[in-house]
Amino acid sequence: MKNINFLIAKNYKNFLFYSRINFFIFLLNIRGGSSYYFKNLKKIVTEIKKNGYCRIPNFFNQRFIDNLIDETNYILSKYELNENNYPVSKDKSERINDLKKNHEFKPGEIKLKFLEGISKNLDFFSKNSFFQIVNLILKGKYGSPSLIYHLLSDGSQTFPLLKGKSQSRISGDWHIDSKHEHVIKGIVFLDDVNETTGGYTEIIKNSKNRLMKKNFDIHKRFHEEDKSISDEDLIKSGLMDKAEYKVPLYGKKGDLIYLDSSNLHRGTKLHKGYRRLLWIY
Ligand SMILES: [Fe+2]
Repeated sequence: MKNINFLIAKNYKNFLFYSRINFFIFLLNIRGGSSYYFKNLKKIVTEIKKNGYCRIPNFFNQRFIDNLIDETNYILSKYELNENNYPVSKDKSERINDLKKNHEFKPGEIKLKFLEGISKNLDFFSKNSFFQIVNLILKGKYGSPSLIYHLLSDGSQTFPLLKGKSQSRISGDWHIDSKHEHVIKGIVFLDDVNETTGGYTEIIKNSKNRLMKKNFDIHKRFHEEDKSISDEDLIKSGLMDKAEYKVPLYGKKGDLIYLDSSNLHRGTKLHKGYRRLLWIY
């Protein structure tokens, strides 16, 4: 019974997801226009449908990214870690502004959530209509996304709230963010992320065997197995068609990536330096 409910919920959500996408592609084709805005919107929607990820190089210019970096450094410098390693406002009279949500910390890695709640500038950024339209099409809800600051560092530089150097990663094992619905996230690259730096996300590209269409047994088996699964195992268990479908989500400062993290993915190890991302979620 549980499996039947799961399959109904999954297929219903899947159906709505593709119906919305196809409807908006239809609308964009007849009314979209050729502006930068509509071109990129169409690219994101089409490629998320086809591959489960989309990369737009130079979506933001360098000056804009530098301003985002300045703003995040400025707001985070107002916080310190308390005895439980939790960020609290340095100004005790401003405790009301404490970061309260489920932040994630590991040596050399921090993921700070809901930044739009503590910065007017970032709140304004998250309310950009482009992100809201992407949300409407791909998530089925109109509203501004939440912003997550994600820093990885080898400890060679100092950053507000960061301790130690990155070794094992948050979400470093192969996983899916949801078994029954598409999970759409954007990544704004505040720094270059490539093979040399490491610390990128790796995703299994959609194919005819995409994860969302797998039956419940495969999900269940996968979760019970060792998560450090090899390429060969991924192929054997039907989770990946061929090795080329494993895609590293590299990016340069200013790029924008969207991905559907209901596809199998993981964060890779940082090799050197540091990298900062702003997740749009
Ligand atoms: Fe994830």
